Amino acid sequence: MKVAIIGTGYVGLTTGVTLAFLGHDVTCLDVDAAKIAQLNQGISPIYEPHLDELMAASRSRLNFTTSAKDALSQAEVIFIAVGTPSLADGNPNLAYLKSAAQSVGEHIQSPYVVIVNKSTVPIGSGNWVESLVRDAFRAKNENSKSQFVVASNPEFLREGSALMDMLFADRVVVGSDDEKAVSVMRKLYQPLIEQTFTPPSFLPRPENFKMVNFLSSDLQSAELIKYAANAFLALKISFINEISELSEKVGADITHVAKGIGLDSRIGNKFLQAGLGWGGSCFGKDTAALISTGKEYGLPMVITQAAKEVNTRQRIRMVEILASELKILKGRKIGILGLAFKPFTDDLRDAPALDVAQKLIDRGAKVVGFDPIAMSRAKKEWADSEIQFADSAEAVFEEADAVVLVTEWPEFLDLDFSKLSKDMRNALMLDGRNHLDVAVLKKAGMKVITLGRSS
Ligand code: UGA
Repeated sequence: MKVAIIGTGYVGLTTGVTLAFLGHDVTCLDVDAAKIAQLNQGISPIYEPHLDELMAASRSRLNFTTSAKDALSQAEVIFIAVGTPSLADGNPNLAYLKSAAQSVGEHIQSPYVVIVNKSTVPIGSGNWVESLVRDAFRAKNENSKSQFVVASNPEFLREGSALMDMLFADRVVVGSDDEKAVSVMRKLYQPLIEQTFTPPSFLPRPENFKMVNFLSSDLQSAELIKYAANAFLALKISFINEISELSEKVGADITHVAKGIGLDSRIGNKFLQAGLGWGGSCFGKDTAALISTGKEYGLPMVITQAAKEVNTRQRIRMVEILASELKILKGRKIGILGLAFKPFTDDLRDAPALDVAQKLIDRGAKVVGFDPIAMSRAKKEWADSEIQFADSAEAVFEEADAVVLVTEWPEFLDLDFSKLSKDMRNALMLDGRNHLDVAVLKKAGMKVITLGRSS
């Protein structure tokens, strides 16, 4: 099928590359000419494991352009995957969505087009997009007969494992009130739903993985599924973090508690890793949007609100723990291991590292950070902050009064802690992700503080 994708961010690019890999003719459209030029050279502008390789494997069916006419006029399915960042009031900024919808209306020519909202958009946006497309289409084509339908197809990809999440998804959700649109979308995803494709060697199919669930619903339900899924995952993390704080008080070990409750199949063992809490571009934005939608309808979203509060508290707690250990923060050197909001990505949006670092800087500490992948991005995006950047993970420890592990990169496990503890002024390690081996660190002469475990 002929597919167009508007927006080459995480969602748009991974969707486009995957659909091309599955055999569709895909054109990715973006207003950023530099990004398109880079993509045309086969280089991904984002760090996502195996994306470059999958792009190379799908190159013959993949085009990148800044021309809306080239991308949209012949497309049978158009994905809108533009950014919807949060505004100050918690509502998403829909300016990019609006201009994408208008551009679609101006350029579509195929006899039947399914326009798919892939961006996370407020409930009711499907109707809004449809009216924007219709107005733009009518203004341009008085007597033309192109028919179009708007559908919602939320994405459930995690950065860092986006391609595996896409190829071997738990489910594909399509929301539309038009049966034909649902069947077009089912056909588009057929190789994925039925797992008839041969996976590339670098993205092997998980053992016993047979089929992807396909769920069709009305438009609003699909839109709400996206918000509800992210809010539920966020509150699962905040719940375990709240229990983790209690766990410290009563002398329990949160890793055992999480395992013990996670073995109950009704609860499940995923997203129960206690630590510094969630960051990234999605959970914060989507919980804020859900709360703001509730407010619009006079409905306080108390559980989602509480999940946010617990998450904010986790970041504050890190600074409080350091203050209680070091007494004085002014003039201290604190090292930060890991800057990206999670491992296997260089994404720094709502990264807990920046928040923790800024709070320490505000209290007079000097903060030196390191990340295996996100350094060049951090130097650019955080140029205004007073964070200093180290050249290696080891350099973070030099003369430090404490080191905080913020992102659980696997390579941090291989550091020579016996040597590093001697490089520190005060051998204190705060493990914000319960990632390190406490016994190894203690043997190396470090004092270790973990979250939710009496160490
Ligand atoms: C999240 C969802 O997991 C995806 O399903 C969704 O598609 C995506 O948002 C989106 O809306 O675009 P993502 O933010 O990329 O994906 O990454 P996650 O793996 O969910 O991690 C989010 C944050 O939660 C990270 O900071 C991570 O460190 C933290 N986390 C995760 C925990 O603190 N504990 C856990 O047990 C799991």
